[in-house]
Amino acid sequence: MSMNAQAKRQFSAISNEMKPSAIRMLLKVANQPDIISFGGGLPNPESFPLDEIKRIFDEQLSKNGKKMLQYGATEGLDSLNVALSKRLREKEDIKSEPSNIIQTAGSQEALYMLGKIFANPGEYVITEAPTYVGTISALRASGVRMIGVEMDHYGMKMDALRDKLKKYPNPKFIYVIPNYQNPSGITMSLERRKELLEIANERGITVLEDDPYGALRFAGPHIPTLKSMDNDVVYLGTFSKVLSPGIRLGYVVGPHDVIERLNIAKQAVDLATSSVSEYIAEAYVSAGFMDKQIPKIIDLYRQKRDLMIESFENYFPKDVEFTRPNGGMFLWVTRKGADTDKMFEEAVKQKVLYVVGSAFYPDGDNHESMRLNFTFSSNENIVEGVKRLGRLFEKTAK
Ligand SMILES: Cc1ncc(COP(=O)(O)O)c(C=O)c1O
Repeated sequence: MSMNAQAKRQFSAISNEMKPSAIRMLLKVANQPDIISFGGGLPNPESFPLDEIKRIFDEQLSKNGKKMLQYGATEGLDSLNVALSKRLREKEDIKSEPSNIIQTAGSQEALYMLGKIFANPGEYVITEAPTYVGTISALRASGVRMIGVEMDHYGMKMDALRDKLKKYPNPKFIYVIPNYQNPSGITMSLERRKELLEIANERGITVLEDDPYGALRFAGPHIPTLKSMDNDVVYLGTFSKVLSPGIRLGYVVGPHDVIERLNIAKQAVDLATSSVSEYIAEAYVSAGFMDKQIPKIIDLYRQKRDLMIESFENYFPKDVEFTRPNGGMFLWVTRKGADTDKMFEEAVKQKVLYVVGSAFYPDGDNHESMRLNFTFSSNENIVEGVKRLGRLFEKTAK
């Protein structure tokens, strides 16, 4: 009977197009002993405020246990939305009311729902190229096409964007990660941010600003968010990199029409975000723990970024290029003429992992780059892993 059902089973065209994320697959290999993984985008567990969370959890359970273990409102815990609205105003000059915010199960859920509410299958949106692999998966799951726009060291190239808009004049939105972009580590300059808003406003195109790393700034000036310059921007934030990804809590700040649509979509996806996580996050923000924790995370990550760059300088052939991010979690390494997809098998044998650059292009057409995470590995492993990669580059010399 079940064999018969299996034989007859037909899946949707959209699910036939879905591919497992390169990173999820990599995490499986990453658990093998002796492997040094620069692959996953994992925060360093040292950055998790274990003692504070334990204290907050006990306290919240005693104080609010009956509400904390109950279903919550779809838009999220009101006091958390109030705390975030205040914080975003103070830190980022984002002028939004609590009613402009909806909590989500990480930004990932927001990305999925934004794809659903904005685009019909087959319609297109504009992204940076490269872009976050999870966005590619989330949009692909709704049959949304992505048109990638080339970047340089100042972010998305505006002449390239104008060119793409000639060919694709009606994108449903433009999606960008202006701060310490995943995967490239690049920060969009203020000039580019202004130009992007100008181009989008002229044409009436919605802008999505994904900002998981903005608070993790090690160097360089603070650059205003797109959202602070134009309140019509839809802004995505998350607790994953400043508290814990396991708590699965993110949020969207947007105009009311967008938040209402997301609310309805979320009722279909998961009803509401975890109240347990929301109560913890609210206390974490309101009691000032977040402001104490972020500088510690920055110190830890800055030192790891410096060590990885120093190791590149010591162990990579001179024709290997890399970005020098002012924050975030990733370095982007490029060697002209290399094929990092082909190199990957040998890298696994050498017990060092990276994410192939092609994973970050909607059309997978760049093979010269790789993404390295500098936040997760121990200092010893950063040096050893870069040595192994250096040998691999030497071996695959062109
Ligand atoms: C650019 C970007 N957006 C969204 C996410 C998703 O984060 P989360 O779902 O943990 O909030 C990530 C995670 O790495 C990311 O790098």
